[in-house]
Amino acid sequence: MTSVTKIPLAEFLSESQTRIDRTLDAALSSLTTGSEPSLIEAMRYSLLNGGKRIRPVLAYASARAVGGSFTPAIDQVACALECIHAYSLIHDDLPAMDDDDLRRGKPTCHIAFNEATAILAGDALQAQAFQSLSSAPALDSDTRLQLVQQLAQASGAQGMVGGQAIDLASVNSALTLEQLQHMHNLKTGALIAASVIMGATATGRASPAHLASLKTYADAIGLAFQVQDDILDVTADTATLGKQQGADIALNKPTYVSLLGLEGAQQKARDLHQQALTALGDFDEQADTLRELSAYIVERDK
Ligand code: IPE
Ligand code: IPE
Ligand code: MG
Ligand code: MG
Ligand code: MG
Repeated sequence: MTSVTKIPLAEFLSESQTRIDRTLDAALSSLTTGSEPSLIEAMRYSLLNGGKRIRPVLAYASARAVGGSFTPAIDQVACALECIHAYSLIHDDLPAMDDDDLRRGKPTCHIAFNEATAILAGDALQAQAFQSLSSAPALDSDTRLQLVQQLAQASGAQGMVGGQAIDLASVNSALTLEQLQHMHNLKTGALIAASVIMGATATGRASPAHLASLKTYADAIGLAFQVQDDILDVTADTATLGKQQGADIALNKPTYVSLLGLEGAQQKARDLHQQALTALGDFDEQADTLRELSAYIVERDK
């Protein structure tokens, strides 16, 4: 058996974050010629303003779990995921949606610019995601097409956007636990799960058995991520979160905390973490970063 170099999580996060920031910056820098400056500025403002970069980190970690490493192809996958995520946040904060004025500790995009620019910046980031993905180097066209399909599925009507639509339709209404889980799986779980699946797919080394186990892991952490987001809306403070605490209660949104209570939601997050670990039972130490990220997702304080 080959021995695997252990990478401390802090080091892995830092390397992933450096690579993703560099790739995002390069993607935006390629857009400046002939574009309306305020559009590009708004995209830059929302994309390069921090954020935990958890979706890129998961893509890199999943690649590692199947024996891959940091490569330019996975940089582009990570860039595509973060572009979709940034677009989803810009639109999520709009007055027509959650009407929030603080994001990552700064005024939201529509406050810093204006609503029309925020809508267009989101639209352009969505297109940029597919541009980045389709130009990922050193991938065969089958893999590239598979990645495009995975991202489209996770972000469209049967993924993030579909979940956001259910979220908006559910304001002031009581959902069953099953309906809430469905909404969370779509609005947040789908893109998180895609991050794991796409990272592994882009290595060209993932077997169908690998992908099936990774999907079980990814579904668990994807749901756990939104459960913890619901918990933090209640337990964290605005300064730490960088977004308005209590936003869900203010809008009377159904959440895991509103349905199960705080302790019930915390227990659910722990259960999902255990399910995620179980799903990785057949993986060796190269999946340790994925294991640690699952713990991080349910223990994070922002
Ligand atoms: C917040 O996502 C929105 C959800 C999908 C729950 P993140 O918590 O990943 O936000 P950033 O990117 O770190 O700001
Ligand atoms: C957002 O859920 C899900 C997205 C697809 C952006 P939330 O509305 O709970 O996210 P935050 O709390 O505003 O970041
Ligand atoms: Mg929302
Ligand atoms: Mg919101
Ligand atoms: Mg939230």
